[in-house]
Amino acid sequence: LMLVLCLSAADDFDWTKNDRGSFYYGTFPTGFSWGAGSSAYQTEGAWDKDGKGMSIWDVFSHKKGKIFLNDTGDSSCEGYYKVKDDISLMKELKLNHYRFSISWPRIMPTGIRSDHVNEKGLKYYEDLINMLLENKITPIVTLYHWDLPQMLQEKYGGWQNISMVNYFNDFASLCFERFGNRVKYWITFNNPWSVAVEGYETGEHAPGLKLKGTGAYRAAHHIIKAHAKVWHTYDTQWRNKQKGMVGISLSGDWGEPVDITNQKDIEAAERYVQFYLGWFATPIYHGDYPQVMKDYIGKKSAQQGLGSSRLPTFSSQEKSYIKGTCDFLGIGHFTTRYITQKNFPSGRGTSYYTDRDLAELVDPRWPDPGSEWLYSVPWGFRRLLNFVKTQYGNPMIYVTENGVSEKMVCTELCDDWRIYYFKDYINEMLKAIKDGVNVKGYTVWSLLDKFEWDEGYSERFGLYYVDFRNKNKPRYPKASVQYYKRIISSNGFPN
Ligand code: NOJ
Repeated sequence: LMLVLCLSAADDFDWTKNDRGSFYYGTFPTGFSWGAGSSAYQTEGAWDKDGKGMSIWDVFSHKKGKIFLNDTGDSSCEGYYKVKDDISLMKELKLNHYRFSISWPRIMPTGIRSDHVNEKGLKYYEDLINMLLENKITPIVTLYHWDLPQMLQEKYGGWQNISMVNYFNDFASLCFERFGNRVKYWITFNNPWSVAVEGYETGEHAPGLKLKGTGAYRAAHHIIKAHAKVWHTYDTQWRNKQKGMVGISLSGDWGEPVDITNQKDIEAAERYVQFYLGWFATPIYHGDYPQVMKDYIGKKSAQQGLGSSRLPTFSSQEKSYIKGTCDFLGIGHFTTRYITQKNFPSGRGTSYYTDRDLAELVDPRWPDPGSEWLYSVPWGFRRLLNFVKTQYGNPMIYVTENGVSEKMVCTELCDDWRIYYFKDYINEMLKAIKDGVNVKGYTVWSLLDKFEWDEGYSERFGLYYVDFRNKNKPRYPKASVQYYKRIISSNGFPN
């Protein structure tokens, strides 16, 4: 009885009716951290400078036909040379934290520590971290935001190979060693869903492989093990001295049943989230893949005559080693889908997507200023945050990415749609905190316009506009800068 009472008390969120309309006036808890983010390959440029090795994104973007207009991140925002300028933009906003990533091949050109450590690359991050701290901005550092050293791809097949676990652990250890006295928030992986699915299944992202139906699961399996190993390394070797935290940043877009009274739709929506956020969060919080993934991939594999399952399994030692390896959960949230059941004929289309047996729909009324995929659906954010709370034991959450892009050309600086997006999404996050979700910080994606992967420079997520045609890459504030600044200075939406 106790257990039942506890569960129902913890889950006081009403999933059947959602308050989608009214605005909630109020402020965030004291100490709530406001930030903005970036990643190395998307902003640094200087792809071949000061001894940096090549990453899979350097190689991929240099191939014709992979990126919109064949753009590359070769120079991007020239962030490598503009640390001072960018910190003054953060100061203008009065950010509490800045989230950025360390380029592995910039500090270990081949990816292997015993080959060579590049002091010049380390110096760049050293200066960035010091300057942030001098300005009272907390660094939140991502170790892997997709730029695997090319050598590790070429020689071992990248995340298809279990040897990445040790190489990644060596890289992370060097970062703890050099920066851990000043960096207290570490994110092992950014959005491993994308790495696995877009890198090894659809091939839209580097390394561009299409290993249908197996590649993504195998990559994810190794990434989860690598994450756990790095968490244990920190826990046993560094935590006492450095007193920091190690988390992971997962993408968590929300899936809502088309018909909330239809059991099939409800289950399909559950599958959508379990095959996405749950794929990584469930092993990390509960020790193994979501049951529904094991069931569906197992069932499909058998139908296809491909043995018991294409989903790798964890041994019982591995399960207990992986379980509980997260001091805080990073959430990257952008949008929502309506979900309904769809049965794919057996044997057809061996892939991550057909394994899920569902169809994604959107409401044509949802605003969509930029990306084809990014509709503004603020209420989905609150639901996702409540899902995390109930599924994973109310973990500490940092929202590590939230934002919207634009494709408009003439009105870049009057980004009123972004102001509405922030207003409503941040308000839904506040409602989630009132629901009891443990959100400690929020990070706008992104500080600057930057290289948007296979979309090149055609999608702009920045608070600051970057003129990429000008080789000095000047930054200009969009209207949303003033709006975000106001939210930060008043810590929310005071009455
Ligand atoms: C998530 C990725 O982590 C980030 O790099 C990207 O810019 C955003 N999605 C927007 O697509």
